[in-house]
Amino acid sequence: MSTIDYSERIPNNVDLAEDRALRRALEQWQPNFLNWWGEVGPEGTGGYDVYLRTAISVDPQGWAHFDYVKMPDYRWGIFLNPREPDRKIAFGAHKGEDIWQEVPGEHRANLRRIIVTQGDTEPASVEQQRHLGLTAPSQYDLRNLFQVNVEEGRHLWAMVYLLQRYFGRDGREEAEALLQRRSGDRDNPRILGAFNERTPDWLSFFMFTYFTDRDGKFQLAALAESGFDPLARSTRFMLTEEAHHMFVGESGVSRVIQRTCQVMNELKTDDAAKLRAAGVIDLPTLQRYLNFHYSVTIDLFGADQSSNAATFYSSGLKGRYEEGKRTDDHLLQDQIYKILQIENGQLVEKEVPMLNALNEVLRDDFIKDSIAGVNRWNKVIEKAGIAFRLSVPHKAFNRQIGTLAGRKISPDGRIIPAEQWAAHVHEWLPSGDDRAFVGSLMGRVVEPGKFAGWIAPPAIGINRQSIDFEYVRFN
Ligand SMILES: [Fe+2]
Ligand SMILES: [Fe+2]
Repeated sequence: MSTIDYSERIPNNVDLAEDRALRRALEQWQPNFLNWWGEVGPEGTGGYDVYLRTAISVDPQGWAHFDYVKMPDYRWGIFLNPREPDRKIAFGAHKGEDIWQEVPGEHRANLRRIIVTQGDTEPASVEQQRHLGLTAPSQYDLRNLFQVNVEEGRHLWAMVYLLQRYFGRDGREEAEALLQRRSGDRDNPRILGAFNERTPDWLSFFMFTYFTDRDGKFQLAALAESGFDPLARSTRFMLTEEAHHMFVGESGVSRVIQRTCQVMNELKTDDAAKLRAAGVIDLPTLQRYLNFHYSVTIDLFGADQSSNAATFYSSGLKGRYEEGKRTDDHLLQDQIYKILQIENGQLVEKEVPMLNALNEVLRDDFIKDSIAGVNRWNKVIEKAGIAFRLSVPHKAFNRQIGTLAGRKISPDGRIIPAEQWAAHVHEWLPSGDDRAFVGSLMGRVVEPGKFAGWIAPPAIGINRQSIDFEYVRFN
């Protein structure tokens, strides 16, 4: 069993004690991290005891330990999956060669950029979720929010370890910069668009953890294939934590739907105004939130054609989702892939070299995975005997990146004139009124076992505890 050494100031399974230079760099960074957490982490929570899981080993089975922890004392640290003996690079020009334990000089700049971009998303989401604790719909949900927050904090540690251990002085500077950018800051924003959006209410939080943490899953899965072994092993362990984040999103939205359907059946109405008056979120509003988070998130995969994506793949830095399960040649030199383009006012599929379309390949894998969960949400509506169905909008809807950026395209994939867009956008994306209404439902529910009126209780508690367990002690 690969256990984590907690006797060290920085818990780790990378023999930190043996590496004085790295230990010194991390020990210098640690107080700045804690300052960052105090400044823009979950607001006013320093004294809470939270029932959190902490990683104690990196074995897929039984790595987690649950107990009450004050979040600033959470054992952030450096945990890598164990080394796989004789692992070879599985794709690109170096296919079949031994994986790298140090950064190959010619790929240094690209690798650093990949790690910084991933690392930047982790503190960003903590910043975006900073105020949500003040309006939690239950203790159970509050605890889940905090679990996500501390794990995103640890994901930042994972990327900072790589920067400081493998990139010398540049890496140390990048590690500091990760604590200086701020989500939504005009002068020094986070790197990627979706991580500068606000997460103002719990419906946004659940949609974010469903869609945007799932982007995290796909990015991490692609990096878990990397020929740079320390990156592959870091991201593999991060994936085990990511699963819970997506669970929070999927079950959260599902419980909102369940509650809405219950009230729809009690009142025998699908009238949005009546449902809102009864304190639940009508299904069309849920659909608009879904449209927003889905479209903002699929932009995160980048431009549909990208020479960087081709370089990252060919040089063995970033693979495809489940690279090992694919049966092609893992070089992709002569392969083609279909992307969407606009020609003569029509959306058409165009064949391009697959290497240049690897962002699109990953986006399409993400889309398949996303739709599966939306179908599970629809089962809840179906079971309630209600005819409404949720769906993901067309891939071209509301895009800001790539060839479709800024084009006016309806959720069902029709290119429309700007006036038509303006006349209908409030049916497709959350309006100011929608956000104000959802915001008006947000109130703090902290009594164990009690839930806000707009969300159903979960089917089971965390770590087989009861639903009315005291997940957070406010002291
Ligand atoms: Fe993360
Ligand atoms: Fe996450």
